[in-house]
Amino acid sequence: MTAPIIRKLSEIRALTAGWKAAGARIGVVPTMGALHAGHMSLVEAAKADCDRVIVWIFVNPKQFNNPEDLANYPRTEQGDAEKLAPHAVDVVYAPDVDQVYPEGFATMVSVSGLTDVLCGAHRPGHFDGVATVVSKIFLQTGADRAYFGEKDFQQLQVVRRMARDLDIPIEVVACPTVREASGLALSSRNLRLSPEGLETAARLYPILRDMAEELEQGNRFAPLELRARARLAEAGFGEVEYLELRSEAGLAALDHASVPARLFVAAWLDGVRLIDNVPVRPA
Ligand code: PAJ
Repeated sequence: MTAPIIRKLSEIRALTAGWKAAGARIGVVPTMGALHAGHMSLVEAAKADCDRVIVWIFVNPKQFNNPEDLANYPRTEQGDAEKLAPHAVDVVYAPDVDQVYPEGFATMVSVSGLTDVLCGAHRPGHFDGVATVVSKIFLQTGADRAYFGEKDFQQLQVVRRMARDLDIPIEVVACPTVREASGLALSSRNLRLSPEGLETAARLYPILRDMAEELEQGNRFAPLELRARARLAEAGFGEVEYLELRSEAGLAALDHASVPARLFVAAWLDGVRLIDNVPVRPA
């Protein structure tokens, strides 16, 4: 049986009111659909922790800074509902656009600082769109816990800060990045890569791992960055938008692994923008 799909705010509110009255702990997994095993790991984490699980599916127009990217974003709702069936989630909430952005919608949620760097610096407005829709996800579902992937580590930190700053009583739970056997982080965008592109893409993770290892041995970032950029070019990557070492907590730039950190990369390949990050323990 596929999971039931709800499209109206009034219906999700009625459902969750009943769950809350019964004392259930509610988990929400926010997604834009085109579900893969990375999303499913969040669903499984929510199922393990919560009495009721909502999967949110909504391709959020406000977080796309490029209209073509929005138009090309895969929409596979029927397949998504089928993929969710074995996970026995309680409901898929796939709201109609006017349930999220009613006529005259005029409010944006903007998190400063954390969004000035990495993807924020390269995708103007993107994180305002994310913070706005995620605050609505939290408020519409009234969930106790929300599950996010470390794959989008900056997003995770932005969402945590937003929930804290706005006093939204929800626990944001981080889930590790799910990878192919090759090490390639699962992403809906991988579907747009050719077989050769996929092989090249798989070289990203070992390059990050090697760098992380050297940083953990106390080496400085700058010379490692030069070497890694050369390796990426040699592997066949195009523009590297960023390759940076930053602290986990505040995303401050680091020149060596002095605190718990992450290596962050965004690189273009075959017209597809790939992002990834790996943890770096202090040396
Ligand atoms: P989307 O790209 O569909 O991702 C939904 C969630 O799945 C995010 O928390 C993301 O980090 C997680 N995810 C994606 N690939 C993963 C992987 N390989 N391993 C683990 N988790 C993975 O992120 C969004 O949607 C949107 O910005 C959203 C938060 C839904 C707001 O619109």
